[in-house]
Amino acid sequence: MEQALTTTITVNGTQVTRSIPARQHLVDFLREELGLTGSHIGCEHGVCGACTIRVNGAIVRGCLMLAVQADGCKVDTIEGISDSGEAKDLQKAFHEKNALQCGFCTPGMLMAAQDLVSKNQKFTREQIREHISGNYCRCTGYQAIVDAIEEVIQTEAARGKG
Ligand code: FES
Ligand code: FES
Repeated sequence: MEQALTTTITVNGTQVTRSIPARQHLVDFLREELGLTGSHIGCEHGVCGACTIRVNGAIVRGCLMLAVQADGCKVDTIEGISDSGEAKDLQKAFHEKNALQCGFCTPGMLMAAQDLVSKNQKFTREQIREHISGNYCRCTGYQAIVDAIEEVIQTEAARGKG
């Protein structure tokens, strides 16, 4: 029988302690144990970015990290940054620019985009493209996604944050 380890993770600000199978991936734990299904699973081997989450402030692939490795860590998911309002400007811009179609990539894309926005710097379209290059979208052709992220970054800069 697979070993389970007692693991404590602060997920979206709430501390949870569970006995977690040693080989369960973090994204599976979030989805199956905590019901946080906003983080999607596409390729399951670190390529598509659908499972992008934040661990201790840095974006990571939830399919490449074991849940037990997050013991003692602070994990944020799309649900967390939505509920807190952190991602509201990006969500509004994605909506207004039609930067999503099926929406499968969108949670991971927003996590990656928010990572860039939170740096409070100006970025060129090329830099935006580079930053989201690990997040695949099969629907939009990326143009509208870059438009939306660029708009938010420019707005932040105009507010004096850039
Ligand atoms: S499901 Fe994790 S990168 Fe594709
Ligand atoms: S909106 Fe469908 S994969 Fe991006």
